[in-house]
Amino acid sequence: MKVNIIGNGITKFGELWEEDLRGLAFMAGFSAIKDANLEPKDIDALYIANMNSSSFSGQQHLGSLIASDLNLNCPGLRVEGVCASGSLAINCAFNAIKSQLYKTVLVIGVEKMTDVETAIATMALASASDEEWEGFYGVTFPCLYAMMAREHFRQYGTNREDLAKISVKNHLNAILNPNAHFHRAISTNDVLRAPLVSSPLGLLDCSPISDGAAAIILSSKFKGKVELVTSEIATDKIALHDREELTSIKATRIAGTSAYKTAGIKPKDIDIAEVHDCFSIAELIAYEDLGFVTTKQTKKYISDGYFSREGELPINTSGGLKGCGHPVGATGVKQANEIVLQLLGKAGTRQLNRPLRYGLTHNVGGSGGTSVINIFKKNK
Ligand code: COA
Repeated sequence: MKVNIIGNGITKFGELWEEDLRGLAFMAGFSAIKDANLEPKDIDALYIANMNSSSFSGQQHLGSLIASDLNLNCPGLRVEGVCASGSLAINCAFNAIKSQLYKTVLVIGVEKMTDVETAIATMALASASDEEWEGFYGVTFPCLYAMMAREHFRQYGTNREDLAKISVKNHLNAILNPNAHFHRAISTNDVLRAPLVSSPLGLLDCSPISDGAAAIILSSKFKGKVELVTSEIATDKIALHDREELTSIKATRIAGTSAYKTAGIKPKDIDIAEVHDCFSIAELIAYEDLGFVTTKQTKKYISDGYFSREGELPINTSGGLKGCGHPVGATGVKQANEIVLQLLGKAGTRQLNRPLRYGLTHNVGGSGGTSVINIFKKNK
């Protein structure tokens, strides 16, 4: 049985003072239902991906809230796996359809982060780490990824310029995305001269704190031109100090290997990918963990523009988390949205001008405690 993608919806990402959590989720969900040309009665279940609506917005019980706003008379529940919540919710929908529990599931990812101060948002985000051994001691996410970057530099000779080129690429891609948080080009020098957040990562190595929502409808009942072929989750030790290595995310390697195997393809068959660039180093490590490059090739491939829009394997055409924004619960759903639009040839001014068959999304929770890989295929 095939799991087809039959509808997409998305809101603008950014600092959206005039919108609230509820309104954002409604807008994305409503657009997806309209895009699929469905009635509320056609939806068998609603999965809401969200990390921290209680801390950011004082609101829980999202299944009921959003199902009733959308006039859905079906089960509704929230799925949480910090920054990977969006892809986890897609995974739950995929498995529910494959097991024939439901035929058509609406997934909405939403986060409204900018109503609280940065310090409060940082604390809320830090709850994705090991509270006992990391969060309690004041270790934030920029710090955790900074440690990974330092170790990568030490072992493989990568440097801040390599990371800067990733941010430059993602900001450039975001300019073409009307829904992106940022619409400004940055240079390598801008990245290198930006204020340090946690050395060696500066402001422009970090994804921003954003608001936004995205939605997608999966169905075995209604036909679609794009199929979700496989959805794989893996976990690893939550604390960085318990991991086998700092320069690779084992959960991504496990989920990726399993996803390629189930889809019957190799990394070289992927035509486009959206990867989890919460920090520039995270995207660099993803290239290696997903089998797109070996550690020996990374620097050269980055500098040759292999992952740019014009390159062999375009990555983060949406602008990624860096340029498009990172409303955490919405991110995995937005990634899926971007891949589906590109495979359908409906990505507007940012549409890639080449045939595309396989697209991959890579969504990480925390510093790598969870990783979810989804592979989409355009049917012939
Ligand atoms: N990239 C580019 N510009 C950014 C930015 C980012 N990540 N974050 C903020 N800015 C810009 C703002 O747009 C604003 O620009 P303006 O003055 O032209 O309007 C300016 O910098 C100041 O914004 P402000 O919101 O005051 O920044 P801040 O200092 O409060 O927050 C960070 C900056 C880096 C601390 C914050 O973006 C952050 O914590 N990012 C990481 C989020 C995270 O950890 N997510 C989970 C990942 S696992």
